[in-house]
Amino acid sequence: MIDPRALPKAELHVHIEGTFEPAQIFQFAQRNNVQLAYPNVAALEQAYKFTDLQSFLDLYYAALAAIRTERDFEELTIAYLQRAQAQGVRHAEIFFDPQAHLERGLSFETVMNGLWAALRRSRSEFGITTALIMCFLRDQPETSAMETLELAIPHRDKIIGVGLDSAELGNPPSKFQRVFDRARAAGFLTVAHAGEEGPSEYVWEALNLLKVSRVDHGVRSMEDPKLVTHLAQMQIPLTVCPLSNVRLRVVDRMQDHPLKRMMDAGLRCTVNSDDPAYFGGYVADNYSAVHEALELTDDDLVQLARNSFTSSFIDDDTKQLYMAEIDGLVAAI
Ligand code: HPA
Ligand code: ZN
Repeated sequence: MIDPRALPKAELHVHIEGTFEPAQIFQFAQRNNVQLAYPNVAALEQAYKFTDLQSFLDLYYAALAAIRTERDFEELTIAYLQRAQAQGVRHAEIFFDPQAHLERGLSFETVMNGLWAALRRSRSEFGITTALIMCFLRDQPETSAMETLELAIPHRDKIIGVGLDSAELGNPPSKFQRVFDRARAAGFLTVAHAGEEGPSEYVWEALNLLKVSRVDHGVRSMEDPKLVTHLAQMQIPLTVCPLSNVRLRVVDRMQDHPLKRMMDAGLRCTVNSDDPAYFGGYVADNYSAVHEALELTDDDLVQLARNSFTSSFIDDDTKQLYMAEIDGLVAAI
């Protein structure tokens, strides 16, 4: 059996704010003089019992109170890169949520400078190439997203694309059609969370109205046979996050996860960690979890790793280098 950590892979769906580990939350809170609602790490971890997406988001946003400075963003990102390296990540496309920081009085520059201080060292120090994707909070108004996009345009050289996250139900992609039109005109690629808790109709909207290059999650696409056919024909990548889906009750048990059925239907699936500090594992742990629960073969795992690179936004030469690394590993077993 292949050790999933040894498999070179790209991670295409990870929220940097979702890599904020409990110990680091307390460390930052202490040095920034921020009072948390929990007395210690154990009490905080006790609260990580989610019933749905919103119950998780409430904690995820609350923890961000501990982040105040450029140094915080830099250290948060370095800690993720260290863990990602140990998980066999060679390329990471990282989401960030500027609105969640702007509303706390931080500047866009504090966020960007901190993230960038870490990412510019990533290739040389961790052997990981990176890209940044800025997400709009879909439960905030369109006007807020548009203002955030304007702040990002001067940083277009450091931000490859825009996405859509936070509370999905009642906040369809159509709400952000004008924002995404403007983002594409400014040169950003587009992705969107769709079909996690929301219906398959939101996946259609993400494709047709937001012109996304990838769908984040997309697991509920399986409820719509016409959509499955379309996604398979167009080979639209889906960034599936199995541990997240179990912890947020999108599926009851890992054994019920649709990943294998999605692969069998010809969908271009990738496996990712989403918010690994909250959901019990980083990206290779997600590979291991589906390997065990869904009886995936080594070939399936290799296919998922190949899909992660073919679905990424890296240039073709770098893609070929990473695919050759996988070939090398496969040849050695
Ligand atoms: N879904 C939607 N929004 C999010 C998530 C998620 O899993 N993680 C962080 N923001
Ligand atoms: Zn996500």
